Amino acid sequence: MQNNLRPESMERITNFELANAFIAEQIAEIRAQVGDKKVLLALSGGVDSSVVAALLIKAIGKQLVCVHVNHGLMRKNESENVVKVFKDELDANLIYVDATDRFLDLLAGVSDPESKRKIIGGEFINVFADEARKLEGISFLAQGTIYPDILESIKQAEGKKAVKSHHNVGGLPEDLQFELVEPIKLLFKDEVRVVGEALGLPRAMVYRQPFPGPGLGVRCLGAITRDRLAALREADAILREEFDINGLAEKVWQYFVIIPDIKSVGVKDDSRYEGWPAIIRAVNTVDAMTASIEEIPYAVLHKITSRITSEVNGINRVLYDLTPKPSGTIEWE
Ligand code: XMP
Repeated sequence: MQNNLRPESMERITNFELANAFIAEQIAEIRAQVGDKKVLLALSGGVDSSVVAALLIKAIGKQLVCVHVNHGLMRKNESENVVKVFKDELDANLIYVDATDRFLDLLAGVSDPESKRKIIGGEFINVFADEARKLEGISFLAQGTIYPDILESIKQAEGKKAVKSHHNVGGLPEDLQFELVEPIKLLFKDEVRVVGEALGLPRAMVYRQPFPGPGLGVRCLGAITRDRLAALREADAILREEFDINGLAEKVWQYFVIIPDIKSVGVKDDSRYEGWPAIIRAVNTVDAMTASIEEIPYAVLHKITSRITSEVNGINRVLYDLTPKPSGTIEWE
């Protein structure tokens, strides 16, 4: 645990000069650790794995093999964007796996939130392990572990209980044990973002709002169906677009749509129209342990409501969740 603890002398990375010094230091360390061997990375497109990928591409180029698993629960255009940035722009050695059917088939009919999480987490490892087994000569596994993850595991080791089984990538099977490369494990999130910007990653990627590992799976409540998931993805894209246009994206920490597994009667083109409600959640927080509700201008809420109900198939109402954390959690599940 000793070298997992941040030395008191370590300066907080707040500007490009410090970030560039950190990057140079890490490049040297990664090269010394890895030599001419190959490194595998699960690249989700989140800030942490993206920064690790960009760092490793700088340090060892094509010796890094990135695997992006699209579990079918990504937001609109998210996987496409990972391919665009890393394969097309950074020329990464990137394997893209569309595993949508594998995940959605396994999730069919499963409504219990923790069971859904376990299926998504478990299948993620299966898909990733299948890809890893096809590759030859991998010696290292890179991970986007950051300092709060280390602090969290210390807390868990001390026996403190989590409310939900948060997970992104769990442990790999016995036959796939690699030495770890964790270049950002002593950094806090704000430092990871500065390093990401200094590495030239797009701002939208570096300042991306948090997105849970199980993705839209925790926001498509109850048993996931393809049609409701598609409606959720479209409604969420509209919400994000309107937040961007109206300058709210910079002010609100996390904002997204949830669709419960209920329908109500509505009316469309003078006919009865049974549809799902889309629930908007927009919260601010410092550490995600508590969260407050943002006051969104009525005009923006009206515009979002009108766009979602007219543009998204299957939705006939839009609701705004006014509950802080506690008593709600940020996600619904
Ligand atoms: P809750 O719902 O517990 O969420 O108030 C707190 C924050 O954690 C995010 N979240 C996750 N993040 N993997 C993650 O990396 C997960 O499995 C996961 N589940 C929830 C959530 O979006 C919120 O920002």
